[in-house]
Amino acid sequence: MLEPKFAQKMASDESLQKDAMTLFNRVCEYRYSYNFSWMGRPIIQFPQDMVAMQELIMEVKPDLIIETGIAHGGSLIMNASLLAMLDYCDAIESGELLDPAKPKRRVLGVDIDIREHNRAAIEAHPMSNRIDMIQGSSIAPEIIKQVFDYAKNYKRVLISLDSNHTHAHVLAELEAYAPLTSKDSYCVVFDTVVEDMPQSLFPDRPWGPGDNPKTAVWEYLKTHPEFEIDKTIQNKLLITVAPDGYLKRVK
Ligand SMILES: C[S@@+](CC[C@H](N)C(=O)[O-])C[C@H]1O[C@@H](n2cnc3c(N)ncnc32)[C@H](O)[C@@H]1O
Repeated sequence: MLEPKFAQKMASDESLQKDAMTLFNRVCEYRYSYNFSWMGRPIIQFPQDMVAMQELIMEVKPDLIIETGIAHGGSLIMNASLLAMLDYCDAIESGELLDPAKPKRRVLGVDIDIREHNRAAIEAHPMSNRIDMIQGSSIAPEIIKQVFDYAKNYKRVLISLDSNHTHAHVLAELEAYAPLTSKDSYCVVFDTVVEDMPQSLFPDRPWGPGDNPKTAVWEYLKTHPEFEIDKTIQNKLLITVAPDGYLKRVK
């Protein structure tokens, strides 16, 4: 992604980075990422990363987004709505009639536990006709097979990993799903920021500094030169849950 003029300078301003991390840790004490919604569904994200996803989706123009970690469905609905905008833009450009009942671009979500009320709300949402959901562990072989079978019909695929945040789980997700990422598209690994946060913020979680999505990304990249960290994104966001998590497939 093109880097804005002052982003690199901002990224090398150590005292600003320190202040940003202090602010990040402080707001996490108040579960800041739970404050927002997208088209009426709660989304567990920082607004900065929501904007970054919008920029990536507009740049890559994927026809399929695969997400692990559905929760209340906010990110599924957000990604589906952005794909709807892409379908709308295609129709305007081509002059073809847009049939909302037959969306071209789709989102596939995987979650180990899709709560009934969340499933009902997602299925009742106007974006639901471009969303499919699979319940099961994202690293279970039978679930991985279902995702691969689904993805066969698509050309440009973007991946978003936001489920269990332990090193072992994210590394297994990367091994399983990153290969589906199309060239010049992204595999976005959320909550890599855990590595930079104090353990005290995760009293009841199996992840923390030393065991988290960022350590998994670093491990994965050792043997996968087809991916590079797109630092331009974290440089301009300043505050993000995914530092070193925006992985671009370069070959
Ligand atoms: C952080 S939330 C996802 C937030 C969502 N992407 C959003 O932006 O609103 C994490 C989700 O991962 C799911 N999860 C945990 N372990 C999982 C696993 N092994 N496989 C798939 N999903 C899992 C949880 O059930 C939970 O709904």
